[in-house]
Amino acid sequence: MTTIFVTRRVPETGIRMLHKTFGQGAVIVAPQDAVIERDALLEGVRGVDALLCILTDAVDAAVMDAAGPQLKIIANYAVGYNNVDVAAATERRIPVTNTPGVLTETTADLAWALLMTAARRLGEAERFLRGSQWAGWGPMLLLGVDVHGKTLGIFGMGRIGQAMARRAQGFDMRVIYHDPSNPEVPDTLQATAVDKATLLAESDFISIHCPLLPETTHAFAAAEFKAMKPSACLINTSRGPVIDEAALVEALDTGEIFAAGLDVFEDEPAVHPGLLDCQNAVLIPHLGSATEETRGKMAAIAAQNIVARLNGETPPNCVNPEAL
Ligand code: GLV
Ligand code: GLV
Repeated sequence: MTTIFVTRRVPETGIRMLHKTFGQGAVIVAPQDAVIERDALLEGVRGVDALLCILTDAVDAAVMDAAGPQLKIIANYAVGYNNVDVAAATERRIPVTNTPGVLTETTADLAWALLMTAARRLGEAERFLRGSQWAGWGPMLLLGVDVHGKTLGIFGMGRIGQAMARRAQGFDMRVIYHDPSNPEVPDTLQATAVDKATLLAESDFISIHCPLLPETTHAFAAAEFKAMKPSACLINTSRGPVIDEAALVEALDTGEIFAAGLDVFEDEPAVHPGLLDCQNAVLIPHLGSATEETRGKMAAIAAQNIVARLNGETPPNCVNPEAL
C-alpha cells in the first residue's frame, strides 16, 4: 500500500487530492501543529513512498536512509529548498520538488509592503501611536524617505525579483539588478544589469530575492553596508543567512543605512536581540507566501508532484531532474 507522510498540517486542498488519489488511509499527517521533532521525523518517514515536508524540516541523508529505498519523492512545500540535501537525494535517485510560480506575486507583494513600511517608518509610527505618544501633527514627526522616483536595486532577478521590478514601474523608479546567473529579463521591465558594487552604491532600496547558496551566504555583511547609501533601505524576503545579522544591527545602529525590512532570519525562529532593539528594523515572521490563496495553491502543487511521481510520471516541479 502507498504511504505518504506529511510533516505538518498544510491546507486541505493538497491533502484532499492525495486522499482522492491514494485513499484516506494512505496519507499520514504528523499530529503536532509545530515543527516536527527530529526523532518524530526519522520515525515518521520509515517505509513511506512520498514525503511532503516544509521548509523548517532538515531533510538530509539520514532522513532519506531512515525512510528506506522505496522513498520515491521529496515534495517540499516551498519554493526555496535549501532545507533539503538535494545532492544526497540525487545520489539516491529521489526527485525533489518545490512549489514555484504560485508564490511569486504574493511574495513580491510582501516585499513591497516591507519596502514601504521601512521607508515610511510605519512600524515605528504604529508603536508610537499605540503607545499614546502622539501629541498632534508635527513638521518633523517621523520623517521617512520617498519611494517614488528612487532607484530600486534587486539582488537576484528570478521570478520574484522580476515581479518586484514590475511593481517599481508604478512608482516611477529606476530599476537595476545584480544576478550572476544572468537570467533572461524582458525589456519591458526596463531593468539594467549591474555589478554588485554598482548595485550597492546606487540603490536607494535593495531587495534580496536570491536563493540561499554557499555563495549567497552573508552576501550582505559589514563591507556591503558600508558601500550602501546612508539613506538606503534593505529588504529581505529570501532566506535569512544571506544577511550577516550582527553586522546589520551595527549598520542600523550607526546609521550606515536608513532601515531594513526583514521577513527571514539567520536562525529562525530566533531573531538577533540587537535587531529587536532597532526601531529602524521592520521585523515579521517569515510570511512571504502567507495568504489563504497562495498557501492553498502550494499545497495543491506539492500534492500534484507526489501524484505524478507515484503514478510513474515526471513530477512537474523537479529541481534535480538528473535523479530521474
Ligand atoms: C518560502 O520561504 C518558500 O521558499 O516558499
Ligand atoms: C522564485 O520563484 C524565484 O525564482 O524568484
